[in-house]
Amino acid sequence: MAKVCLVLGAGAGIGGNVGKKFAREGYHVALCRRSDEEGLNKIVAEIEAEGGSASGHLVNAVKEGAIEDLIEAVEAGIGPIDVVLYNLGSQIGGRSLEDTTLKVFELGWQMATMGLFRVAKTLFPRMVERGSGTLLVTSATASVRGNAGQHSHAGSMGGRRMLCQTLNAEFASKGIHVAHILIDGAVDAPDTLGKMMGADAFQKLREARGLEHDGLMLPEKMAETYFHVSQQHRSAWTHELDLRAFSDLAWWNHAA
Ligand SMILES: NC(=O)c1ccc[n+]([C@@H]2O[C@H](COP(=O)([O-])OP(=O)(O)OC[C@H]3O[C@@H](n4cnc5c(N)ncnc54)[C@H](OP(=O)(O)O)[C@@H]3O)[C@@H](O)[C@H]2O)c1
Repeated sequence: MAKVCLVLGAGAGIGGNVGKKFAREGYHVALCRRSDEEGLNKIVAEIEAEGGSASGHLVNAVKEGAIEDLIEAVEAGIGPIDVVLYNLGSQIGGRSLEDTTLKVFELGWQMATMGLFRVAKTLFPRMVERGSGTLLVTSATASVRGNAGQHSHAGSMGGRRMLCQTLNAEFASKGIHVAHILIDGAVDAPDTLGKMMGADAFQKLREARGLEHDGLMLPEKMAETYFHVSQQHRSAWTHELDLRAFSDLAWWNHAA
């Protein structure tokens, strides 16, 4: 039976490309995204066209019970989940305190922190019983640096990083590997950054910095790192790492 990788937040950027990488390496990949059924089916079809195995699950992960139900359905219908990628972001663009409603702030926390907690609550007891498991968590610069307009994003992503550290403290010795992967720059991700910027502005950014310039992070290249981390020997685990394009300054070198 193939090993199973569950991707929560499988768009055409990091989520879909990590899914494709795991499928190429022989995993069955269960891909979950919220709203774009056509996009979901496209990634599944691309994996199958390469000879891989994948299933698509259109689920709003922040709905009460949705993560728990999805994990149960994948484990019962496909097999035990060996690797899970938690890839939901909480970026809503810059918003002043006045423009950040309580509802928006709460949704950011649901996406960044609570959903991740629910994955651990549901899956970790099963992984502990099996003696192994890997949780890869995509994160952002906001997990280590607050900034103007980032009340919701930085508040919630900081919590994400601390939750990863806390999960590691309790579960690493039980065979579960949690990796917090800080993405310190813009990704060539049409379903998230592309939608937030708008198609024209995103295309201009790609032409100015992306494509052959390699100044936008390429998700298919990032996926190599995700897979590598998931396969590390337990005598040499990475718990935190960061990725950025060669032409970007690291977050600690920015003046603001
Ligand atoms: N893109 C960047 O420039 C950038 C920079 C720094 C960090 N990151 C981090 O990278 C991760 C996202 O990766 P990506 O930008 O490459 O995006 P992606 O993998 O292309 O897509 C992420 C997908 O998550 C899905 N999603 C959002 N909310 C969901 C929900 N409630 N339930 C289920 N699925 C949901 C969306 O599905 P639908 O489209 O179907 O709604 C979206 O397509 C986030 O953790 C973010 O913090 C991204």
